[in-house]
Amino acid sequence: MISRFCFLVFVLFLFGSSSNAIPESEVKSICIKTQNPPFCVTLLSSNPNATIAELTQNTIDIARTNVSNAITLIKKLIDESEKNPKAKGHYKACLDHFGEDGALGDVDYTQELLKKGDFQGVNVAAASITDDVEDCISGESPTDPAFDDHSSLPSYAIVIESVVSVLLVLSKHLGH
Ligand SMILES: *[C@@H]1O[C@H](CO)[C@@H](O)[C@H](O)[C@H]1NC(C)=O
Ligand SMILES: *[C@@H]1O[C@H](CO)[C@@H](O)[C@H](O)[C@H]1NC(C)=O
Repeated sequence: MISRFCFLVFVLFLFGSSSNAIPESEVKSICIKTQNPPFCVTLLSSNPNATIAELTQNTIDIARTNVSNAITLIKKLIDESEKNPKAKGHYKACLDHFGEDGALGDVDYTQELLKKGDFQGVNVAAASITDDVEDCISGESPTDPAFDDHSSLPSYAIVIESVVSVLLVLSKHLGH
């Protein structure tokens, strides 16, 4: 019951906050500010009549799926690196950076802040997702040599960073 009520409140918030669907020209002007504009246009155009708030919600959902997929992959990579302690250490560190205390937790935090209408907060929390991902891929400090990763994890990371870059621009847009 409670979750159903929260959902209703959230839906009312979505309709109340900005009730007009955004025109195609606005999709372009949003996407030009992102890391990967064609990716952004594809992502936002899959929801033609959505408002900015709805698109932001949708983008958070995609980010959560992509971070969860990366976590599943990392767990598999840890299992597969029994005989390679260096790889195992790297993937274990990545699991921390992607997990509840890292990227996944930050995705949930963007969700919580969006519900509260704290768009500036969504923007800040979204930036932390990218930092978490970069801590895994590039190492925590600039002096750390990056692990030479031949798995699919770096390409998963690029997808997450592209999604987050859309979220950064959308949340900035909502804050105006
Ligand atoms: C979007 O809105 C337009 C105009 O109201 C409508 O013609 C079109 O069918 C809608 N598209 C979708 C996918 O709902
Ligand atoms: C990211 O999430 C989207 C939407 O759920 C999905 O279509 C896509 O395959 C995912 N990509 C990765 C690399 O997880």
